[in-house]
This record gives sequence, structure tokens and C-alpha cells, in this order.
Amino acid sequence: MILGPIHMAYILAALLFILALAGLSKQETAKLGCLSGMVGMTIALLATFAQVESAVGFILIIIAMAVGAGIGIYVARKVAMTQMPEMIACLHSFVGLAAVLVGYNSFLELGGVAPETITIPINATADEIAALLESAGAAAAGAATGMTVGELNTHLVEIFLGVFIGAVTFTGSIVAYGKLNGTYKLRVFKSQPLMIPGGHWLNLGALIVSLFLMIWFMASETPSVAPLIIMTLIAFAFGVHLVAAIGGADMPVVISMLNSYSGWAAAASGFMLSNDLLIVTGALVGSSGAILSYIMCRAMNRSFISVIAGGFGNEGAAASGDEEMGEYRELKCPEVAELLKNSSSVIIAPGYGMAVAQAQNAVAQMTEKLQARGVQVRFAIHPVAGRLPGHMNVLLAEAKVPYDIVFEMDEINDDFENTDTVLVIGANDTVNPAALENPNSPIAGMPVLEVWKARNVVVFKRSMNTGYAGVQNPLFFKENTAMCFGDAKKSVEEIVANL
Ligand code: TAP
Repeated sequence: MILGPIHMAYILAALLFILALAGLSKQETAKLGCLSGMVGMTIALLATFAQVESAVGFILIIIAMAVGAGIGIYVARKVAMTQMPEMIACLHSFVGLAAVLVGYNSFLELGGVAPETITIPINATADEIAALLESAGAAAAGAATGMTVGELNTHLVEIFLGVFIGAVTFTGSIVAYGKLNGTYKLRVFKSQPLMIPGGHWLNLGALIVSLFLMIWFMASETPSVAPLIIMTLIAFAFGVHLVAAIGGADMPVVISMLNSYSGWAAAASGFMLSNDLLIVTGALVGSSGAILSYIMCRAMNRSFISVIAGGFGNEGAAASGDEEMGEYRELKCPEVAELLKNSSSVIIAPGYGMAVAQAQNAVAQMTEKLQARGVQVRFAIHPVAGRLPGHMNVLLAEAKVPYDIVFEMDEINDDFENTDTVLVIGANDTVNPAALENPNSPIAGMPVLEVWKARNVVVFKRSMNTGYAGVQNPLFFKENTAMCFGDAKKSVEEIVANL
């Protein structure tokens, strides 16, 4: 095996992954970032192939890759943009499961060898030490695994932690998938948080028991599979409970958190397989996911620590979409077009409904028409609008809306009061004043786009249904708000025709 070129390839791939992350942090450089990641992954794969020593191993990898790539290409072509978050959750669960399987495989490869504690006299000669090792059986362990006792213990820790993180990621991601999908009847898959009484103590108990199981795993004469299996079952349940306890509008943080966990699971697999690139890549995903979770927490005014502990301290806050809030006003599309013609400044606040309706191109056309009439048009993007980070930015970029009229919430939130008309296109939770006005609301404390401060607000949606968090929106019943019912794409196209 030629190590030099392979290590060089690993370093190059790792650098390209770092460049990919840097590129993806800005819309202008995102494509270049994707390209860096793809080239890095190709190099990583080629370097991995170069290390396969047997023809059978090579053929098995090719078959596995062909099957995996076939399924991947089919699913990626079929999946709608709105289903992307579910797909990401599903992929995270695979990373978790892979870490569990790699962990068990690493354990089985050890073949039940025993790390032995022996006492070596301080003045022992090399021959005496060898004899002692042999009699204690540790030399046998070394022969079987090629490891010293210390290395063997480290490896056992890697296996235990890798399986734990992988198992939590696996079941946690499956629950996240169900919650994002929203069509499953099982209670854990409902968007409302599942709060078991004493749930946080259960989480703490699971961690403490797992710690004792690790001590048992490490201290046994012959490493036993029993503590590993018990811990795996606990970790599976822990993952379900951790994510089931988080609900509604807080799901974005869970997704980035599971992204981070999947990175650490991959890094743990890298340790178990002694693969440097997998360690580096896993650590990059793990730490960037953790940073994203932190940014999401700040954007949503949630505590990072309570996220990691599962549940946001929102015990008692119940979602309700049935509250009576009074009368609402309705406008038809031609009337909205008239209102826009008489406005000199317009802000568009898009949300998940724009993605469902695929209204972005119609919205871009409407923007051009309004700009041609001398109307100032800007976009206000909430950090968790849609169903994945940057969802709205991706859609607007696809429709070629110039970046310089697209603003983050913090940049534009003070401008609503000086704006003639705000068009809320398929957004709901992200423009809900209850987040600021009702301390008992499940979304209480989450910063929102303060659209109601504008002179006129028009909300585009199909019905009076609630948004993802399942809470009614007082915005719809304000005096300066009008509802424009219908599919967002059709409504905006009709407005474009009337402009
Ligand atoms: P939501 O609160 O999800 O509301 C979307 C609205 O779009 C719904 O009220 C729906 O009303 C309307 N809609 C759906 N299809 C439509 C169509 N074809 N035409 C017109 N309207 C349509 O949206 P949001 O304001 O973007 O908030 C996002 C929510 O998702 C937040 O609670 C957030 O925490 C959560 N979430 C976000 C993420 C990330 S990372 N962004 C991940 C997971 C969860 P009708 O049914 O009446 O039409």
C-alpha cells in the first residue's frame, strides 16, 4: 500500500471539503462550494479504492455503490423540493445506522480478546516483561488485534461511543422524518411536542446508565457484547424521546442538531476504521452542524443547552388552531393588483406555501413588473421560513431574484412601518404576532417578521388553516390585513396579468 499519495489525496479532499463549507456560506459562491465538495468526494473515493487490496473487496464495493447510487439517483429525481428536509433526516438516519453497524463490526473483529491488567516489576528485563505479557494473555490480544492493551481500551471506547451516537442519530432522525412528513398517525411523529412527565430525568438516567454500561464493557475480562446491546437499546429509545419532545416551530434546530450528530457519528466510524479522512470529514460536519444549531437557536431565541437536552423548556405550551379571533377581510387578485399599483414600497415575505405552490417564478415576474412601475420591492427572509435552512433563498435564487433586494429578518424588520404594502406569500408561523404577544404560545419568544406594522398586509394562502406549529395567527384578523385565498402561484400569476 502506497501511503504517501493516499495521505496527499486525503489532505486535498479535506481542504476541498473546507472550501465547500466556505463556499456554501454565501449565495454567490454556493455553486463553487458544491463543486469543491463534489471534487473532494471524488478524490476521497478514488483514494479509498486505491487501498482495497483484494479483487473480491473491490467488486463488493462496486456492487454496493451501484445499488446505493441507483436508489439515490431514483429518490433524488423523485423527491419534491418541499420533501427535502424529510430526505435529509432520512439520510442522517443512514449515517447513524452505519455508525452502529461499523461499531458492532469492529467489536466482532476483536474476536472477544481480553485486555489484561498485569504488574511488571520496576527492574524487570525485556525478556521478563515479554514472558509476563505472554502468561497474562495480553500478547495473544496483541497478536489477534495488532494492538497494545492501551490501544485496545481506546478502541473499545471508540466502539462504545460510536454506537451510542449512531443509535441516537438513527432513531432521532427517523422521528424527525416522521414529524417533517406530517402524515403519520403515531403520536411520536406528531408536530406537537411529546412531553413525558419527568422526561428530562429519564434522559439524564439514560446517560448515567450508559456510562455504567461503558464501565462494565471496559472492565470485563473478555469484552462482552451484553453491555453494548443494552446500551444500543437505551440509545435507540433516548433518540426517539429526545426528538419527540421537540415540536412545531422548533424543528429547524433539531434538523441542524441531528446534522451535527450524524457528523460526530461519522467521525466515530472514522476512529473505528482508522480512516483519517472520515474523522476529518465527520468532525467538519459535526462542528458546522453544531454552529448552525447555535445560529438557529439564536435566531429563534432558544437556549442551546436546552435543545441538546431535548425539549426547550416549553412544557405546558399547547398548540391550538381553533381559537376564535374575530372577523377577517378578503381581497380578490385584481383588487390586490390595484393596491400594488398604488404602493410605492412593497416587501414580500415568502414562506413554506411559496415552496408548495412553486410560486417563485411568478413572484419574480411580479417583482419585475412592479419595479418597472417604479415601485421599490424587497424580500424579507425569516431564518426558519420554509422547511430547511436557506429554503427561501434557494427558491428566489432559482427564479433569478437579485440578491441585493433579498434581506435577512434582522436587516429589514425595522422597515415594515415605513412600507405601503407587505405581501405574505405562503408564510404563517414566521409572521405570527402571537410569538411576541402571547407568552403561552408554543412559538412564544421566537422573533418574527413584524409585517403587521406596514400600512397594508395581504396574506396569500388557501384557507384559514394554521402553519407548521399548529397555532392560529392573529395577523389574519388585524384591520390592515386582507386574505387573498387560493394557490399562491395561481394568485400571483393573476396579479401579474392585472399589473
Ligand atoms: P408555515 O408556518 O409552515 O405556513 C405555511 C403556510 O403556507 C400554511 O399556513 C399554508 O396555509 C400555506 N400554503 C401551503 N400551501 C400553499 C399553497 N399552495 N398556496 C398558498 N399557500 C399555501 O410557513 P413558514 O411561515 O414558512 O414557517 C415555517 C415553519 O416550519 C416554522 O414553524 C418553522 O419552525 C418550521 N420548520 C422550519 C424548518 C426550517 S429549517 N426552515 C424546518 C422544519 C420546520 P393553507 O394550508 O391555508 O394554504
